[in-house]
Amino acid sequence: MSALRIGVCGNGTVGGGTIELLRSQAVLLGARAGRELLLTRVGARRDREDCPTGDVPVHRDLLEVARADDVDVVVESIGGTTLAKDIVETALRCGKSVVTANKALIAEHGNELLALAEECGGSLLCEAAVAGAVPILKALRDGMAANTVSELSGIINGTGNFILTEMGAHQRPFDEVLAEAQALGYAEADPTFDVEGTDAAHKLSILAAMAFSTPLNFSAVFCEGISAVTPADIQFADELGYRIKHLGIAKRHADGIELRVHPTLLPKGSLLANVDGVLNAVRLQGHAAGETVYSGAGAGRLPTASAVVADIVDIARAGGNSVHCLGVPVSNLESAPTLPME
Ligand code: HSE
Repeated sequence: MSALRIGVCGNGTVGGGTIELLRSQAVLLGARAGRELLLTRVGARRDREDCPTGDVPVHRDLLEVARADDVDVVVESIGGTTLAKDIVETALRCGKSVVTANKALIAEHGNELLALAEECGGSLLCEAAVAGAVPILKALRDGMAANTVSELSGIINGTGNFILTEMGAHQRPFDEVLAEAQALGYAEADPTFDVEGTDAAHKLSILAAMAFSTPLNFSAVFCEGISAVTPADIQFADELGYRIKHLGIAKRHADGIELRVHPTLLPKGSLLANVDGVLNAVRLQGHAAGETVYSGAGAGRLPTASAVVADIVDIARAGGNSVHCLGVPVSNLESAPTLPME
C-alpha cells in the first residue's frame, strides 16, 4: 500500500514531539500501520533547533500545508481556535484527514468540524486533546463500545495536578510551580486556562460527548479552577484525612447530564487522591464493564505526541474509510439537556 503522507502544522511542544516520533519510529510505525507514515511537509512560523525536519520542507504559510497535494493527513498542533480552525477546515475541504491535540478547538467548534469531516469523507481525530498519553478516547470509542456509561470522573489537567501536588508535598508556592510547569511544556500558552479550569472543562466536554454519545456542549460545564486553593487549604484537608484534587465529573441522570470541574476533597486512600504530579487519571462506569480506570502522563512533549501518532496510525489502518471521532456519526448523536449546578 502507498505511504500515508503527513503534514504537521506547528513545531512547538506537540508538533515537535510528533515530528520526532514520526522520524525516530518510522520503521516500527510502518510495520504497525501496514504502510509507511511519511512526513512530507511542516508548517511553522519559525525554525527551531529542537525540531529538526531533515529534508522536509518547512512552510511559513501553514495553510499551504493544509492544501498541499502531497499531504493525506494534516496534524494541527498550533493551538488556539482561529488559524487552527482555518487549517482544519481547509484540510477537510481538500479531502484530507486531520489529527489535532487542540481541546479548545474541538470543545468549542467540534460539532461543526466533525460534521464537516463526515461531509468531506475525512477523519478528524483528537486523542491527544484529552489526558495526554492516556488512550482514553480510544477506550471510550472502542473498548467501551458496548457500554451505557453512567458517569466518569477524573484528573484531566496535568499542570493543575502538578501544582496541587507540589504545593502539598513540598509546600512550594503556586507561582513557582506554575513557572516550572510552563518550563516543562505542560502548561497552555495562556496558563489561566490550566489554573482557572477552562482546559479541564474543554476536555470534560469531549469526554462526555464520547461517553454519552451526545453533541459537544462546552458552554454547559460548570467551571472552577485551582487559583484560589492555598497551601493552608491543602494542609487542613490533610489533617482531616483528605487530598484536594481538581476533578472533571460527568454524570448521566434520567433528566439530563451534569458536567462540572472544580477542586474536590477526596479521602486520602482513594485511587484518584494518589494520582500525583503531571499524571492524569479517568474512571469510567459502564453498565457491562463496571468500573475501569485509565492513567498516565497528562501533558508533555512525547506523551502528547504519542497520542497524536496513534491517531495517525488509526487513519492509516482505516485505509481510506473515515473514523468517527465520537464513535458514532454526528447525525446519530442524541441531544440531552444539561442540568444546572445545584
Ligand atoms: N495544559 C495541559 C495540561 C496540556 O496541563 O493538562 C495537556 O492537555
